Amino acid sequence: MSKNEVYRALAEQEGQCLSGQELSRRLGISRAAVWKAVERLRRMGYAVEARTGRGYRVAERFDRLTERDVALCFSSPRKHWRVLAQVDSTNSECRRLAASGAPDGTVVIADSQTAGRGRRGRSFLSPPGQGLYLSVLWRPECEPEQLLPLTALAAVAVCRAIERLSGGKTQIKWPNDLILGGRKICGILTELSLEGESGRVDCVVVGIGVNCRQREEDFPVELRQIAGSLDMSLQEKIPRPALAAAITEELDELRGAVLFRPERRLEAYRQRCLCAQGAVQVIRDGESRPAQALGIDERFGLRVRYEDGTEEVLRSGEVSVRGLYGYV
Ligand code: BTN
Repeated sequence: MSKNEVYRALAEQEGQCLSGQELSRRLGISRAAVWKAVERLRRMGYAVEARTGRGYRVAERFDRLTERDVALCFSSPRKHWRVLAQVDSTNSECRRLAASGAPDGTVVIADSQTAGRGRRGRSFLSPPGQGLYLSVLWRPECEPEQLLPLTALAAVAVCRAIERLSGGKTQIKWPNDLILGGRKICGILTELSLEGESGRVDCVVVGIGVNCRQREEDFPVELRQIAGSLDMSLQEKIPRPALAAAITEELDELRGAVLFRPERRLEAYRQRCLCAQGAVQVIRDGESRPAQALGIDERFGLRVRYEDGTEEVLRSGEVSVRGLYGYV
C-alpha cells in the first residue's frame, strides 16, 4: 500500500515538494520503496513531478473527487463503494441501492447533488467542486431505539476524520452539526427504514455533507453568517479524496466497534459539544423556549432546565446556542 501512502502525503502538500528522504522518514519505508511507489503512481496516470534537489510533488488535481483518487487514499482496499460526479442525493441513491439488495457498508460519494436533502425537509446546497457528499448504508440487526445515539456518533466520526487529516478542532452543536470557526461546516442526515411486520431495522442511511472549498461569497446571503467551510478556517487544505476515505474509515469503525457500545465515544462527544452548558433556545413546532443546558446524558441527550425550573432531556430536535448564528 506504499503508493497510497505516498500519494496521500504528496496530496496533503497541496502542490509543494516533498523530498524522497522526508517521504521515507515520514512513512517508515526505504528510499527505493518511495521511488517504486512514485513509479506505480505514474503508471496509473498520476502527474507526480520530480524536481531536482527538491523532491516530488503532485502538481494537479489533488482535490479531484473520482473513484481512482479516493481509492488511493484508503488504508486498505474495500468493496461496495462508488463515486459519482453528480446525483440527486447520495442518501436517495443509497436507499435505491438498498431496495435492490446492496449489502451493509455500501458507500456512495458524490462531487455534487442536484437535490441534496437536509434535516426537517430543508435542502442542502451541494455545488460541484466545493464539498463532499457521502452516504453509507447499513443493515444492522437491531431495534430502532438502539440507533438513537447514531446521529451523535456520526458527528464524532466526522470530527475524528477532520482531526486526523488536519489537526483542526471541530466542535459539535447538539445533536450533530459540525462547527468550525463559529460556523456550520457539515450537516448529517440519518434516515431509517423499518421492516413492516417486525418493526425492526431494515436499513439505515447516514448522509454527511461537508463544505470544503467554499469562500464566504459562495454561500447565499442569508447563510453567510451561519455557513462556513474547511478552507475558511483551516490553514491547510484537506484534499476531498483523503477526507472521503478518512470519513469512510471512521464510519467503518463506528459500525464495527462503537455502534452498539456508544459509551466508547461519549467522552469524545461531550468534549466537542459546544452547547452542553449555558444559554440555549429549544426550538419546537416553530416556537423557541429559553433554557439552560445542563449537560449531555449517557444516551447523548441534551439535559435542559427551563425558566420555570422544569427539566427535560432532549432526544431529538433543534436548539439555538448563544453566541452562534446571531443568537446573542
Ligand atoms: C442538515 O444539516 O440539515 C443535514 C444535511 C445533510 C446533507 C447530506 S449531503 C450527503 C447526504 N445526501 C443528502 O441528500 N443529504 C446528506
